[in-house]
Amino acid sequence: MIQIAPSLLSADFLHLEKDILLVNAFADLFHLDVMDGVFVPNISFGFPVVEAVARQAEKPLDVHLMIVHPEKYVERFAALGVQFISVHIEACEDLSSTLSQIRAAGAKAGIAINPETDAALLKPYLKQADFILVMSVHPGFSGQYFIEGSLEKVARVREMIAEAGANCIIEVDGGEGMHNIAALEAAGASDLVAANAAFMAAEP
Ligand code: DX5
Ligand code: ZN
Repeated sequence: MIQIAPSLLSADFLHLEKDILLVNAFADLFHLDVMDGVFVPNISFGFPVVEAVARQAEKPLDVHLMIVHPEKYVERFAALGVQFISVHIEACEDLSSTLSQIRAAGAKAGIAINPETDAALLKPYLKQADFILVMSVHPGFSGQYFIEGSLEKVARVREMIAEAGANCIIEVDGGEGMHNIAALEAAGASDLVAANAAFMAAEP
């Protein structure tokens, strides 16, 4: 069963409660894109917003850290009750220890990987991760087009997970909507992130 994780990046921040209730009623996870203006060329939101969402969320929180030095902040997110935390392979100086840190803090540990990053780099870490977040757009902004090669990348990651005997699930992030859900599920994704397709739709 595919899980849908609406990204609050495209939510209405003036009426956030309305969009939180929508996710509570119709989706599976809250995807929270935290950006620092350094790892990605955009700044989104941080602890105060995640804390506010946590107070009303009835579905698990999934924090996607697009920041440098994520190891400095994972405990603070876990302390807010965040159940899934992903960090970028490109941003971690010591990925193994950051993943252990996330698990030790009581959250599920995810490795996010940019479109231009070779999936083979994930190999040594698969058993230390609970999920892999395959970026299907360049991180930083919602509303971009799905990068086509991402389907093959998802399939490749699924094979690598099987070969390694690991049991992480695959989350795919960026440019998703009704048009590609079925193909992504067939390629091995079990968790789909959607910002624009969820909140900018005529009928979210
Ligand atoms: C991009 C974020 C995504 C983004 C997805 O950096 O990681 O989660 O919000 O937006 P859509 O679904 O509109 O492509
Ligand atoms: Zn994201």
